[in-house]
Amino acid sequence: MQQHRRNFLKSGTLLGASALAASALNLLPATVRGSAPAPVKDQTRTLGKGKHSLTINYGMGLGCMGMSWNRSFVPDRKNMISLIRRAYDRGVIFFDTAEAYGPFLNEELVGEAIAPFRNHSILCSKFGFDIQNNKMTGALNSKPAHIREVVDRSLRRLKTDRIDLLYQHRVDPNVPMEEVAGTVKDLIAQGKVMHFGLSEAGAESIRKAHAVQPVTALQTEFSLLTREPLTDVIPVCEELGIGFVPYSPLSRAYLTGYINERTVYVPGNDNRPGLPRYKADAVIANWRILDVIVNFGNERGLTAAQVSLAWLMAQKPWIVPIPGTTKLAHLQENLGSSDISFTQEELTTFTAAIAAIPVTGTRYATPQTK
Ligand SMILES: NC(=O)c1ccc[n+]([C@@H]2O[C@H](COP(=O)([O-])OP(=O)(O)OC[C@H]3O[C@@H](n4cnc5c(N)ncnc54)[C@H](OP(=O)(O)O)[C@@H]3O)[C@@H](O)[C@H]2O)c1
Repeated sequence: MQQHRRNFLKSGTLLGASALAASALNLLPATVRGSAPAPVKDQTRTLGKGKHSLTINYGMGLGCMGMSWNRSFVPDRKNMISLIRRAYDRGVIFFDTAEAYGPFLNEELVGEAIAPFRNHSILCSKFGFDIQNNKMTGALNSKPAHIREVVDRSLRRLKTDRIDLLYQHRVDPNVPMEEVAGTVKDLIAQGKVMHFGLSEAGAESIRKAHAVQPVTALQTEFSLLTREPLTDVIPVCEELGIGFVPYSPLSRAYLTGYINERTVYVPGNDNRPGLPRYKADAVIANWRILDVIVNFGNERGLTAAQVSLAWLMAQKPWIVPIPGTTKLAHLQENLGSSDISFTQEELTTFTAAIAAIPVTGTRYATPQTK
């Protein structure tokens, strides 16, 4: 679709008044034009291979979870719909949600927000939890019948007939991965799902899934504080041609410098108080890492968030972070990081300086990857 538009413009058939009319039309926001946003120059990234691939503007998506869940405050719904639409007007097409976020509320929000440009967006959601009476129980459920029910319900909430990228949220040790992948393969054959993704899957699970239904992307926590994927799952993704989507790429705001040891989280709507890295002692100890990031950014006119996102994108051309935000100013700042490239020397020196400081606190209280 984006390529077609470029060719059309290149063909030079738009002359005189029609050219003026077309360029005036292009000044209108994409939501008003009802068309795809202009491709963002030289900043697209592709997840996955061949017919299983997805190409993403800015090489970055928008994580929508925090607009309704788990990041303490819940902003006004209308403002979040407006933020998603303004993100699209700036070229963002890759939106991340899950039935678990809310639960359910975030899918409803995202579905409504992207409805005007649904056909030009890439909508990602997830299944895999056992949600009882509208509450997350922490239990997993990837039984085939449950996956099928969840997808039908997600489609209704998302107000669409297909999910472009459907992830298994967590590997379910009680259901063989081949069965999960086989169920998603059937959903793809039915047209309800377009691409398959995994989240927090280990190397063996990835290989088993990919053998049944090619995986487009692995979504796993990856940031300057969580660098393990570089050595455990990213090499497997590289070998198999699977894209990588870092979640919590700003380490849930820590890498922006916006939270500190005195930050008060809203009980019941934030997972950070339960995560070891957000305890006051870990927050203070890890400040040395943030100092390296801030100093690197200060010399170059970049914010800590921009350095953190640019570093992730510098690792591989098929890495597509999904920073979450509820603020247009932060969104613009984050999108700005796709313009930034490190020289090889900068990357080596900066990475070595970060690696020299041990990270205090594990990322979760219990291991997530299976
Ligand atoms: N697969 C999984 O298991 C999983 C787990 C967690 C998250 N996710 C996905 O990943 C997405 C992002 O993860 P996340 O929200 O946990 O963490 P994140 O993207 O690392 O951080 C989000 C936090 O950083 C703040 N922030 C963002 N940009 C900022 C900036 N430029 N300056 C200052 N603060 C900034 C946001 O606050 P403001 O709103 O104030 O900007 C928000 O509190 C989620 O929305 C969700 O879609 C997936």
